[in-house]
Amino acid sequence: MERVLYFFLLVLCTLDTVLDGAHFRGGIISWRPLNNIVTGTTVQVLIHQRYFWNRQWASFVSHNCTEADVGLESPIPVSSALLCLKNCTSSTYPSGGISTVMTTTDCDLNPIIESWAGERYTTLTLPYTTSITIGFNSSAWFSSLLKGGGQPWSIANRLNLAPRPDNLTNSSPVTNTLPVVFYPVNTSIVHVVQMADNDATDILLCRWSDPNSTYNFNQVDECEGICHGLPSGTQLIPSNCTLSFILPTANLYYACALQIEDYFNAVATTPMSSVPIQFLFYGYKASASACAHRPNITGLRPNRACIGVPIGVQLTETITIETYCPGQTIVDLVTSSPIGMTHSAISNPSPDMWVMTLTWTPNATQAGPQGFCAGAIDNSSLQSDPWCITYLVDYASPNLIVPRMVQGSASPIGTVFSNQSLFSIQATSAVGRPSRNGTNICFHLDSTNATVLCYDSGYSPNVIYTGYTIVIVTTITWTPGQSYYVTMDSGFASGSVFCHAESAPITDKTFWRFDIWNPALSSTTTTTTTPPTTHTVTSLGTTTTSINTACTTSGIVVTSTNASTTTTTASTTPPTTAAPTTAGPTTTGVTTESTIPVFYPADFENACKQPVAIMSAVMMVAFMPIHTLAMYAAFTKFSNMFKPSNTAAKARHQQRMKNILRR
Ligand SMILES: *[C@@H]1O[C@H](CO)[C@@H](O)[C@H](O)[C@H]1NC(C)=O
Ligand SMILES: *[C@@H]1O[C@H](CO)[C@@H](O)[C@H](O)[C@H]1NC(C)=O
Ligand SMILES: *[C@@H]1O[C@H](CO)[C@@H](O)[C@H](O)[C@H]1NC(C)=O
Ligand SMILES: *[C@@H]1O[C@H](CO)[C@@H](O)[C@H](O)[C@H]1NC(C)=O
Ligand SMILES: *[C@@H]1O[C@H](CO)[C@@H](O)[C@H](O)[C@H]1NC(C)=O
Ligand SMILES: *[C@@H]1O[C@H](CO)[C@@H](O)[C@H](O)[C@H]1NC(C)=O
Ligand SMILES: *[C@@H]1O[C@H](CO)[C@@H](O)[C@H](O)[C@H]1NC(C)=O
Ligand SMILES: *[C@@H]1O[C@H](CO)[C@@H](O)[C@H](O)[C@H]1NC(C)=O
Ligand SMILES: *[C@@H]1O[C@H](CO)[C@@H](O)[C@H](O)[C@H]1NC(C)=O
Ligand SMILES: *[C@@H]1O[C@H](CO)[C@@H](O)[C@H](O)[C@H]1NC(C)=O
Ligand SMILES: *[C@@H]1O[C@H](CO)[C@@H](O)[C@H](O)[C@H]1NC(C)=O
Ligand SMILES: *[C@@H]1O[C@H](CO)[C@@H](O)[C@H](O)[C@H]1NC(C)=O
Repeated sequence: MERVLYFFLLVLCTLDTVLDGAHFRGGIISWRPLNNIVTGTTVQVLIHQRYFWNRQWASFVSHNCTEADVGLESPIPVSSALLCLKNCTSSTYPSGGISTVMTTTDCDLNPIIESWAGERYTTLTLPYTTSITIGFNSSAWFSSLLKGGGQPWSIANRLNLAPRPDNLTNSSPVTNTLPVVFYPVNTSIVHVVQMADNDATDILLCRWSDPNSTYNFNQVDECEGICHGLPSGTQLIPSNCTLSFILPTANLYYACALQIEDYFNAVATTPMSSVPIQFLFYGYKASASACAHRPNITGLRPNRACIGVPIGVQLTETITIETYCPGQTIVDLVTSSPIGMTHSAISNPSPDMWVMTLTWTPNATQAGPQGFCAGAIDNSSLQSDPWCITYLVDYASPNLIVPRMVQGSASPIGTVFSNQSLFSIQATSAVGRPSRNGTNICFHLDSTNATVLCYDSGYSPNVIYTGYTIVIVTTITWTPGQSYYVTMDSGFASGSVFCHAESAPITDKTFWRFDIWNPALSSTTTTTTTPPTTHTVTSLGTTTTSINTACTTSGIVVTSTNASTTTTTASTTPPTTAAPTTAGPTTTGVTTESTIPVFYPADFENACKQPVAIMSAVMMVAFMPIHTLAMYAAFTKFSNMFKPSNTAAKARHQQRMKNILRR
């Protein structure tokens, strides 16, 4: 018995020794100028480092991290340096390099992961002549690797500040990963490494990091021990950074080292920068009792969403994980977070549903894109697909303005004809098409909740973005006498900059609803039998006008026989002056797109500023040609959007927007 115990201790000690020296587990280095417009001779560059370390690296630090270190923003004391390695005379990059002491962002106690991750942002003022390779190399890599275990590590990035062909300063691509990605062994795996770029028109390609310093772009050994560390036969598709491989051995780690590079256009032969990304795969053999379905991260925000967040305001994001078998338990959520984002314990509010809450107050130093990724692990080591969100700090996502009965920001609401085909809604800032497909706007029948019509705003030509307004052209005939309501997915209104920060989803049935005029119930005579109440509001510029609140934004008079009770109640509520109503998006500074004569709610109000008696079916007839005109204009606008000259103008506009964002 004693001997067994002794042996056990010996094994533990040996393991400890190995772990002590073998603590590197990968990382990412990227950079961007604070202002990409070339002025003067120097530019401020923000350099971002993120490294993953072995948590059990006791003798080195005499501290094993916990979630408390995330809240305390404890430093990870690796007092080394990110050095200039090549062509250093072209720059004033500090000869002692920049610190590699990271601020703790994630601490993972899962015995398979045992990761301590942190990041660091450093601002340097460097001349535009800078064309250097920066890198961090030392010893040693984590030991249980297919290839390179215990070997030295190297991670290198190309920092070139020469103006691009479009006379701007380049930004490197950005990427994110989980420190350890789990896959079953002996199974064909397709893994996509995420990549994105502030310079939206750049072509991104990824390649294997390369040891040959006379041959590769960075002119240093880019990966030392772990070059080509994945099993032989692994395929890499450069254009979408997709890896295909089979992990042969269970309970073993496999190191992956890639460089993501940005080219100015499809004919450019030299990249403008080179971003390293190094992380681990872990192969497992699923136990016989394991669930056939891996857990799945779901929730209001979809994978790869981009969300604008203000500085200094606490953000609470809930991650919801779904499981599919009885007894399938979520034991860990491996994360890669921005500094200061804390993670709650995992709770299990209902069977098959697991929840973790993230809390984060972005700091002014974090302005710009901040990535977050999570992967859930169950008690059979099944890992969900990674779920990644980009937070665009110091940028407000557009949000849809709640439609109101009078002076609304959406059109139409209230009662409309069954051939109503033009709908519009305004957002709080300039909007653009979402960058993802699968972002739907749906029309539902109120009585049954049935979905009548959906458009994917990711590509549907029926959804048109212009300035602050989104126009939806529908192609169905509504059923007279019925009420309808509209729902919109997260990102239906997306910001027009960088990653297209998304609006919050709208699922509330009362948010935007309308009724279809029923000729059998409603006629011109009913309007005279319902005396309208009038309210005095300040509207439409400087004049105080008495408006007829019986008019809805569709121009049809509200009657007591309307199908929807919600809207009739609203008609007696004094209207409020909500901005922006009178000013169409055309007059707002930031948009340069051409305008279409959308029938703004204000137009309807103007029509309504008269005694209700005049507002009759005769008036409706007068409205209809205008309606047709607006539809024609909408289609003209749509065809224009695809003309190359307009597309180029739009790209320039987006570039300007980006410059504004960056400051
Ligand atoms: C850290 O964890 C390892 C492994 O569990 C343990 O051997 C070591 O003593 C711990 N170190 C500290 C300082 O708690
Ligand atoms: C070194 O820097 C100079 C000055 O910026 C640049 O012209 C040259 O291309 C650089 N050399 C390499 C190999 O990057
Ligand atoms: C780091 O890289 C430099 C230059 O490539 C090389 O001379 C040095 O030996 C490397 N150090 C380690 C620990 O690998
Ligand atoms: C870049 O600047 C140069 C010199 O000022 C000018 O000749 C060139 O047209 C500019 N290129 C672009 C794409 O603006
Ligand atoms: C994977 O396949 C190899 C070769 O076919 C086999 O030797 C090994 O036992 C398999 N491993 C598992 C976990 O099924
Ligand atoms: C490195 O690349 C150069 C140029 O392609 C080649 O001549 C050399 O043999 C390579 N060295 C190694 C060790 O592969
Ligand atoms: C990556 O690109 C290849 C070739 O264009 C394509 O076949 C593959 O489906 C793409 N993979 C993903 C995940 O988009
Ligand atoms: C995970 O959930 C999302 C959102 O509900 C769904 O679109 C996706 O198909 C699910 N994936 C799997 C593998 O079940
Ligand atoms: C996972 O945990 C549940 C509940 O503790 C248990 O019933 C199930 O057998 C476990 N599955 C595995 C593979 O350990
Ligand atoms: C932002 O973070 C930095 C470094 O953690 C800290 O020094 C600074 O006080 C913080 N600023 C604010 C406004 O919280
Ligand atoms: C979205 O879907 C459309 C139509 O299926 C397709 O043409 C387009 O490439 C898709 N876009 C993206 C970003 O997946
Ligand atoms: C429609 O959905 C609402 C809320 O989502 C629900 O309360 C109501 O019962 C549903 N109505 C029908 C007919 O399913």
